[in-house]
Amino acid sequence: MAGQIPQHFIDDLLAKVDIIDVIDQRVSLKKSGSNYSACCPFHNEKTPSFTVSQTKQFYHCFGCSVNGNAISFLMEYEGMHFVDAIEALAESVGMEVPRNAQAAQVRDDSKPLYTLMESIASWYQSELRKSPEAIAYLKARGLSGETAKRFGIGYVPDGWDGLLTHFPKEEAAMIKTGMLIKGDGGKRPYQRFRNRIMFPIRDRRGRVIGFGGRVLDNQEPKYLNSPETPLFHKGNELYGLYEARKSAQDAAVAIVVEGYMDVVALAEHGVDNAVATLGTAANQQHSETLFRTVPGIVFCFDGDRAGRAAAWRALTATLPCLQDGHEAHFLFLPDGEDPDSIVKAGGAAAFQDLMSTRTPIIDYLYEHLASELDMTGIGGKATLAEKAKPLLASIPKGVYKQLALRRLESLIGISLGSERAAAPAPAPARARSASSNQEAGLTPMSRAILLCLQNPSVVLAVPPDDYEISPQFPGADILLKLIAYCDSEPTISTARLLERFRDTNRYEHLVKLATKSYYPDGREIEEEIARNEFAHNIARLRERSRQTLTDQVALSARTGLLAIKRR
Ligand code: UTP
Ligand code: MN
Repeated sequence: MAGQIPQHFIDDLLAKVDIIDVIDQRVSLKKSGSNYSACCPFHNEKTPSFTVSQTKQFYHCFGCSVNGNAISFLMEYEGMHFVDAIEALAESVGMEVPRNAQAAQVRDDSKPLYTLMESIASWYQSELRKSPEAIAYLKARGLSGETAKRFGIGYVPDGWDGLLTHFPKEEAAMIKTGMLIKGDGGKRPYQRFRNRIMFPIRDRRGRVIGFGGRVLDNQEPKYLNSPETPLFHKGNELYGLYEARKSAQDAAVAIVVEGYMDVVALAEHGVDNAVATLGTAANQQHSETLFRTVPGIVFCFDGDRAGRAAAWRALTATLPCLQDGHEAHFLFLPDGEDPDSIVKAGGAAAFQDLMSTRTPIIDYLYEHLASELDMTGIGGKATLAEKAKPLLASIPKGVYKQLALRRLESLIGISLGSERAAAPAPAPARARSASSNQEAGLTPMSRAILLCLQNPSVVLAVPPDDYEISPQFPGADILLKLIAYCDSEPTISTARLLERFRDTNRYEHLVKLATKSYYPDGREIEEEIARNEFAHNIARLRERSRQTLTDQVALSARTGLLAIKRR
């Protein structure tokens, strides 16, 4: 994509925008000498080491060494792709991005869709003002007009064709965005949402990409959400992130809750840093997105069974994101309560009280594992170690990994030599020689990456719990990221997947894999076979991950590091 925008345009654009404006709109800058400075938005710090030079039109952080121009800033800070960043900058200075025909088709497709969604949201808001019943419902739930306005909450009247009557020329676009459903056999399309309170879902840039709609009574389904559309991928988005970002950054923590109403009710009571997943379990991409914005996440769940299951999924999705400097906690609410009911009964204070009981992620990990075992016997301890291993393996090297290993040692009363275990493991010699004899000279890791890049839906062939791949294997970080992306959007294109790695030092390598044939003779691989091959390569990687861990324990034992302590 990058190559489709002429270099001279990018030059002109960078000449016209002022990086100070671009950054200051997002991170407030202070003048210091000839430069500007701020606390770095890319790492956690108390004294400012992030500086922006107006003459150089460049930023640099002395703490974490991020640097770049206005384009890089938007890409880093907003999580935008290159082309989106160019587009946003161009728009801010009134320039029009020239594109070739192909790119124009992709881009120009979505522009009117965003505008349309915004218009629909405004229309819903105006309908809310006309509906005493909907206003009464929101009042009864404790919402002020101010909060409703801040979240753009609206109302869609009953009936099949309100939207079409109001936006008669937008039939095709409304079908595309899931706002209308095509009628059978030539019947007129009808609107998906009827007689519901409407919550616009915004992306990180504040654009409306979908809606959630709630009934006003006890009908089913209680909530209806926009389907997957070119704008909306529910597995990637967090409701309220656009509204919550500033407060979350100030508080250095984002609270993840389960429902739209929880986000809105918390905000009503001044707890402005909450976001919600959209009726799906929190996944790795959610955690990555949040950690790009704040150093801390608190996952908040019902204390019931479903809540605990969702919490465990959030834990496994978050462990791979626990770089040093990141923090994650779990908060379990009393059975039958949600954040909305808590602030409604006891205000923000009641919620803050509960917040002080939150459990650090590593504590929760062991509490959960131990709760299913009898920890008084040897068997229970062995099983605990066995179950903890793949989880610990998914934590990046650093303080968390050390902490988690030490805790395991003290729980089972055995030293595993945690210093050693945390160091990168040499791949077992056996495995290495086997893989170098492979047909096309590809390792199972490269094969799995190749298949993911070329046929993203292959990830569906492997259950999410079966990716126990040691992150110490070269390439594991890339593979696990790819799997997360493909899992939340199995129809994603190879180009879009690649774009996400554009700025990494693995990009060239990934491009090669994306264009390479799976077979040495250049044949194309069939979908069905690609799935089988993918599952097979993952199984091999999993086997090796287990082997590596077992080797480590065996090695520790042989060198006397595995000292059995008397308790
Ligand atoms: P809850 O049923 O816990 O929602 O579902 P809530 O926010 O407490 O609802 P209120 O308080 O009765 O209004 C949590 C989330 O799960 C999704 C929605 O995203 C909702 O916010 N959900 C729930 C659906 O998508 N469909 C449903 O029918 C129910
Ligand atoms: Mn609720």
